[in-house]
Amino acid sequence: MPENEAFFSDQTEQSATKAHIVSSYFTAWSRVIKKWDCRMAYIDLFCGPGRYDDNKPSAPLQIIQTTLNDPVLSRKMMFLFNDYDQANIESLKQEISALDTGGKLRQIQYFTETIDLGTHSRLFIPRNVPVLSFVDPFGYKGLTRDLINKLIANSGSDCIFFFNYNRINMALSSNTKFDEHLIGIFGEERTKALKAQLATLSSSQREPVVINALIEALLEDKGNYVLPFKFYSAEMLRTSHFIVFVTKNPVACKIMKQIMHSNSAKDDDGVATFSFEDSRNFGSNYSQLSLFDGPIKALERAMISKYQGRTITVQELCDEVDCDFTNQFVSKNVTDVLKKMELEGKITVVAGRTIKERGGVLTMPKKATILFK
Ligand SMILES: C[S@@+](CC[C@H](N)C(=O)[O-])C[C@H]1O[C@@H](n2cnc3c(N)ncnc32)[C@H](O)[C@@H]1O
Repeated sequence: MPENEAFFSDQTEQSATKAHIVSSYFTAWSRVIKKWDCRMAYIDLFCGPGRYDDNKPSAPLQIIQTTLNDPVLSRKMMFLFNDYDQANIESLKQEISALDTGGKLRQIQYFTETIDLGTHSRLFIPRNVPVLSFVDPFGYKGLTRDLINKLIANSGSDCIFFFNYNRINMALSSNTKFDEHLIGIFGEERTKALKAQLATLSSSQREPVVINALIEALLEDKGNYVLPFKFYSAEMLRTSHFIVFVTKNPVACKIMKQIMHSNSAKDDDGVATFSFEDSRNFGSNYSQLSLFDGPIKALERAMISKYQGRTITVQELCDEVDCDFTNQFVSKNVTDVLKKMELEGKITVVAGRTIKERGGVLTMPKKATILFK
């Protein structure tokens, strides 16, 4: 079956979660950006037809619906939808017209460009327009660092892209056939070094090396924050792909981290793995055995070593963790750990808390000040 037909038959749990993360982020992003005195844009370079064969709406239609529900957004939003398949663009146009019966959306452009290694130099984005972009190819051709960096260059701009780990991992084992595409993502030197390093590694050892190389490549553009979120194959328990969020804004990082956290599998302590555990691979009885302390212990140790003998507010501790894309913790993990540490006498709340307990459980308000003993 051609790739397009297979992909757009019934929506998988993985695709539904991907669309949900993208549209949830659009909702949060647009709520902030609509207050700015400027127009704003959503750019989807691999948009697809809008619906799956089972009639489920994909990300573009969910985002259009959110926009239509808000008169301010309907006036301010510009949309650019691209797909090299004319039939997909025609289908999406019809689906959008069916939702926008009142013709509220005036600024939608459709293109049938082929996205390739040179797209970044042909793409024109007006200055002063914050852009949320979604780059969702089947494979990885056309996905380049230059493209991502261009898409996030304007203030208020963020990009979510699909990183086909499975195929990129295979390409990294091949001769030089796919090198121009790999170089577009990782850069020339890094591609060479990565291929050499991977040659001796087992498949489970390869994954963190590849993902770290991707993060490193994206961090070369100063000020970038990068959050990857993992999906398993719909057929077997093997990593399929990641969606990766890139931004220059710490608050945007914080918002997406919360969204990814709430869509992620979590351990018993509520620490997210930043991955989606679908029901086929991880039936209801699935549970991971851990012989060691859970990661929540690492958070406790890190806070103790940094703040021992010092005072700090809960809000500051939460912000620090939420804006840090190098660990998997969110503010809820911080407040959980602090409550446990208070019970164990490792911290005291020295100010900012009026009610100590609710229903027999300690409270840990954001304005409380903590002393690490
Ligand atoms: C994975 S699907 C996108 C799905 C879409 N984001 C959604 O949520 O339904 C990839 C789409 O990109 C289109 N496509 C693939 N390669 C392309 C390229 N090089 N340039 C432009 N479009 C491409 C395909 O026709 C397909 O509709």
